[in-house]
Amino acid sequence: MEKEMIIVLDFGGQYNQLIARRVRECNVYAEVHPYTLSLDEIKAKNPKGIIFTGGPNSVYGEDSPRCGKEIFELGVPILGICYGSQLMSYLLGGTVETAPVSEYGRTEVDVNPSSVLFEDVAEKTICWMSHTDYIAKVPEGFTITASTPVCPVAAMECPAKQLYATQFHPEVMHTQEGMKMLSNFVYKVCGCKGDWKMSSFVDDTIKAVREKVGDGKVLCALSGGVDSSVAAVLLSKAIGKQLTCVFVDHGLLRKDEGDEVEAVFGPEGPYDLNFIRVNAQERYYSKLAGVTEPEAKRKIIGEEFIRVFEEEAKKIGKVDYLVQGTIYPDVIESGLGKSAVIKSHHNVGGLPSVVDFKEIIEPLRLLFKDEVRKAGLELGIPENLVYRQPFPGPGLGIRIIGEVTAEKVHIVQEADAIYREEVAKAGIAKDLGQYFAGLTNMRSVGVMGDERTYDYAVALRAVLTSDFMTAEAAQIPYEVLFKVTSRIINEVKGVNRVMYDLTSKPPGTIEFE
Ligand code: XMP
Repeated sequence: MEKEMIIVLDFGGQYNQLIARRVRECNVYAEVHPYTLSLDEIKAKNPKGIIFTGGPNSVYGEDSPRCGKEIFELGVPILGICYGSQLMSYLLGGTVETAPVSEYGRTEVDVNPSSVLFEDVAEKTICWMSHTDYIAKVPEGFTITASTPVCPVAAMECPAKQLYATQFHPEVMHTQEGMKMLSNFVYKVCGCKGDWKMSSFVDDTIKAVREKVGDGKVLCALSGGVDSSVAAVLLSKAIGKQLTCVFVDHGLLRKDEGDEVEAVFGPEGPYDLNFIRVNAQERYYSKLAGVTEPEAKRKIIGEEFIRVFEEEAKKIGKVDYLVQGTIYPDVIESGLGKSAVIKSHHNVGGLPSVVDFKEIIEPLRLLFKDEVRKAGLELGIPENLVYRQPFPGPGLGIRIIGEVTAEKVHIVQEADAIYREEVAKAGIAKDLGQYFAGLTNMRSVGVMGDERTYDYAVALRAVLTSDFMTAEAAQIPYEVLFKVTSRIINEVKGVNRVMYDLTSKPPGTIEFE
């Protein structure tokens, strides 16, 4: 049976993947495509519905993204959002003008509950607006179904042609009943039944990978992070021993992390794949000796990773495919026909040029982080790995301010393990975006057991963040900080002072370097 799908046509807005994700939350598969997708390509996909996204342009702009109006004759239901609603109006003969008053943010909207789009939605509902243009006159055959005091057409529709439009963004969280509206569109307008689940994604991807790879060889750079782990397990379920995972232990991982990765992916673990662990600790420490400048450290760690991987890849010989755990937030460009830029280093952006392969496989590139985690659970990956907090590619190398040495790595690993243990015991881990211990490059005088000490200061950091672009320091309970401090000073040799970093981002960054 063919799977139901909704096409999200991308007109350059910020929330395009979010729209697709919300549709998937309704258990209907959705894909984002550039607005330049041809009518034939659209027909070939046999969508149950199409959603036009928002975008930063004005429909009258010379270079504004526009599709042809033949799309409205396909007989496929369409929902236009923000710019997409204005485009629908413009193409069908309505008028769009610069609004006398722009609307940004939470806005109370009066909706007509007899519209199928607003079934079960309150007559006055809070929606997220972000526009300077608005629809001044709806096209013939359309009726207005929502408005605000300054936006006469906050929604319009022509049910006979199955065309719907909202000036506001139903996909963002701030539109309180947005999910209901999207669900109404998908189920009541498009007639979907909801045949998509994360397990379907997993099954379909396994099938597609099998078909694509045939009996070819696949290579994966495994970091032990959530994304590369989920990608590796997916591939191993699809092609088993045709997959080789190379895990480079650069000596800058958290305490015991290398062994934990090996326990899951190595020969004793549950997966049937070829696993190579490269213990490159000494090699990294000698390259990093004497280097203090943060960017120089990052560069050395990144380049060394490529060298080590290259050496291993040479031993394996020619491979057909390289797997990358790229996820949607790593795909910088919005899909307007431009190729995706892959995050450097951690997701092995530097690798393709050093490995001889036919193609890159990115099985997770349409998913958000929490969707990747769901896929991981679906695949039976242990929870502690699936819910691992983000860890930068350069690892502890950028949590040790100044020169990196084996001794300093040991100190940070021990201090960080204590911090994580106490945070877990206090039951506050799930509230924190990211938290870790770092090592300042400062030594200070202390006294322990009547003896003078001259040791390092450890800095603890914990931030609240949802996007990692901005963050604020978390208010960790004082008792927890106190316990962590006392344990670190007592248990970690070489540390006589512990500090808590209260800096937000901006002006700080989450990592120290
Ligand atoms: P900053 O320090 O820039 O970090 O506020 C934001 C988020 O990015 C992570 N981070 C990295 N991740 N490779 C990565 O894969 C890197 O080089 C890197 N540097 C920072 C950081 O842990 C935080 O989650």
